[in-house]
Amino acid sequence: MNGAPSNAIAIDVKGLTKTFGGREVVHDLSMQVKRGSIYGFLGPNGSGKTTTIRMLCGLLTPDSGEGTCLGYDIRRDAEKIKLKVGYMTQRFSLYQDLSVRENLEFVARLYGVPNARTAARDMIKRLGLSGREEQLAGELSGGWKQRLALGACTLPNPELLLLDEPTAGVDPKARRDFWNEIHALAADGLTVLVSTHYMDEAERCHEIAYIAYGHLLAHGTVEQVIAHSALTTFTVTGDDLQHLGEKLQGQPGVDMVAPFGTSLHVSGRDKAALEATIAPWRDRDGLKWQVSAPSLEDVFIELMNRSKDNFQ
Ligand SMILES: Nc1ncnc2c1ncn2[C@@H]1O[C@H](COP(=O)(O)OP(=O)(O)O)[C@@H](O)[C@H]1O
Ligand SMILES: [Mg+2]
Repeated sequence: MNGAPSNAIAIDVKGLTKTFGGREVVHDLSMQVKRGSIYGFLGPNGSGKTTTIRMLCGLLTPDSGEGTCLGYDIRRDAEKIKLKVGYMTQRFSLYQDLSVRENLEFVARLYGVPNARTAARDMIKRLGLSGREEQLAGELSGGWKQRLALGACTLPNPELLLLDEPTAGVDPKARRDFWNEIHALAADGLTVLVSTHYMDEAERCHEIAYIAYGHLLAHGTVEQVIAHSALTTFTVTGDDLQHLGEKLQGQPGVDMVAPFGTSLHVSGRDKAALEATIAPWRDRDGLKWQVSAPSLEDVFIELMNRSKDNFQ
């Protein structure tokens, strides 16, 4: 294992803080990621997800805080960590003027993968890119570019994969294929950190963390994050939900009102206050109220609203 202790934890960091130009963009962040797990980062734009990902793998030095990645110290052993990490940035870093095959062979040689040509050929097969070997990367569709980028960063056989919003702007079928591939890689022991804005993708992670304004506000399995939110949610269906939503917004106990298709979600952390507020509406003709488990999106929206008040 090249001197790295083989333990069950891939990432273990405490108190990471980062300031840019006098502004703290990551605040006292601690987290642990198990080896072989898929760990999702969620949160609004500008919250510090990318900054956190870069600190976790030693690409960026924290102002304070400490920890290990793959058993190596994130401050002292950044070079060693880099060799074992595949990093897919927000803008897929492919050579647009090189073909699919050339991109993969280049990466293989860069990382000293033995038998670069064969390794590239095997990856082309694995990615389902056979027949497109000689196509220029720049001419591929978004979904194929993404697959190629994933192939390029897994080719050197990393132990940790960092995927920064890998599926932004990719169609649903390609997203699904991509996630199947991620799960296959994790099942082979690869640890995956992924940032995303998509709720369905969050639900495909083993664990998730929600970051807003540099603060890690929630983490755990999807079930744990939902349970921990202590949010009571009512789903209302019926007539003139727009009007109902406007009436309820900002009332005591109502932390959040959000339309979901043909229904309205009304949520709050103070169940008694929420019930008191909605009481006059619950028997209205044309409205049907149901207590429901909050969705992950309900939880995130509520966390974001709350953190706006606290941190902005
Ligand atoms: N190298 C940098 N120099 C100055 N500010 C930065 C730098 N990198 C990120 N930031 C700022 O830090 C904040 C967090 O950015 P980022 O980590 O990219 O958030 P996210 O990935 O959640 O959108 C943003 O306000 C961004 O403008
Ligand atoms: Mg980002």
